[in-house]
Amino acid sequence: MTLSRRDFLWLTAAGLVAAPTLANGSIKPDARRLNLVLQPEQRHWFAPLGEPVALWSFDRDVLRLRQGEAVEIEVENRLPNPSSVHWHGLRIDNAMDGVSGLTQDPIPPGGRFLYRFTPQDAGTFWAHSHHQTYEQLARGLYMPLIVEEQQPADVDRELTLALDDWRLNEARQLDTHSLGDMHDWAHGGRTGNLLTANRQLKPQLQVRAGERVRLRLLNAANARIMLVNLPNLPCWIWAKDGQPLAVPEVLTTSLILAPAERYDLVLDIPDEATGVLPIQLESDQAPVDLAYLRVDDRAERRFSGVPNALPANHLPVIGAEKPAHRVQLDMTGGAMGSLRQAVYQGETLGVRELVQRKQIWAFNGVANLPDQPLLEARSGELIEIELLNNTRWPHSMHLHGHHFQADLARYAKGIWHDTLVMAAGEGTRIRFRADKPGSWLLHCHMIEHQAAGMVSWIRVL
Ligand code: C2O
Ligand code: CU
Repeated sequence: MTLSRRDFLWLTAAGLVAAPTLANGSIKPDARRLNLVLQPEQRHWFAPLGEPVALWSFDRDVLRLRQGEAVEIEVENRLPNPSSVHWHGLRIDNAMDGVSGLTQDPIPPGGRFLYRFTPQDAGTFWAHSHHQTYEQLARGLYMPLIVEEQQPADVDRELTLALDDWRLNEARQLDTHSLGDMHDWAHGGRTGNLLTANRQLKPQLQVRAGERVRLRLLNAANARIMLVNLPNLPCWIWAKDGQPLAVPEVLTTSLILAPAERYDLVLDIPDEATGVLPIQLESDQAPVDLAYLRVDDRAERRFSGVPNALPANHLPVIGAEKPAHRVQLDMTGGAMGSLRQAVYQGETLGVRELVQRKQIWAFNGVANLPDQPLLEARSGELIEIELLNNTRWPHSMHLHGHHFQADLARYAKGIWHDTLVMAAGEGTRIRFRADKPGSWLLHCHMIEHQAAGMVSWIRVL
């Protein structure tokens, strides 16, 4: 039998000829096709004297997508280990969320996986491995992901700084021996001894005096909370975790940038600026320069005063109504904590047995990914989770697939997060509306803490 074009159209309209579909969604003929490769990389941080440092990376420095434009991204794994790619902060179908063992099998070495989605939100996001994340992130398997607004923003220039913290050994190679070190896992996670911006040592980014600059900041470190300082630069917070602030907020202090958080800042380079302007990390000793803005030239000032808000993304509204679900998440464990036992894979274990299984943290008394979700909600329902950090450590809490609001006084009211840093002992209520069906992780992004127990999930029906 042969079908005429006309028959074909009719059958299609009747739903009788199903287009071949992959894991999720229908094939969109207008999807932009992209390839990404996960691969080993040699970084010349100490050239010309030193050996290159062996890392893992994506084959691009940054991925730029457009809001509302469907993409099909074929990821090829040229690493010696299995991997997967999570699009941190993007609100996409659960099957595309890239969590190995939950939403997909890992991509084997030599294998490929086709991710298909349409970014709904413009903003600053990132892609990173979500398989053995504590190792693969430490090796560098991440990349900033920018979703462009439909209209260009009111700035003269846009810069991105992905900050990272690497642990090198005496041979100036990645310290792979200490991957999985239980002392790190029970304390503040794996912190390093070499800071980079865009995988470079103190890069110089070119600007002109008089320009308004959009600076996208990402903390891609495994565990280090960064206090970023931009001395003497008029500066506003424009967006957090990809979502614009309704009213840009002037930044007068250092910025707390916890693992996986992003900020979009607006900087006005003063008309009289010359030379280099440092972007610094505050420390208990002298501040450390991370990168420099190099003022090369002068521009006619086009923008001044408080910037207009970026156009809001269409997030589900959070009303004042009573949430359909209200649960507590009691975070416990870690060094100097009082964890005595926890459930691990259905068994109640004492601390010694937990440590043998590399577990030392718990959510509601359960270490590691439980069989049962923290809660089950229907799409559209309002959820409130009370996060209680009953530990002696800060944590950078990340919810997959949703943005939420928290009631912490240090943030402007109504600000959205997909990642929220909580101080030791702090508690907050977060609210969000269940959106897409599927299994969505909630975990600490100080990624050793996730590996050592701080992970749960919600199910949306
Ligand atoms: Cu940025 Cu579960 O990850
Ligand atoms: Cu943590």
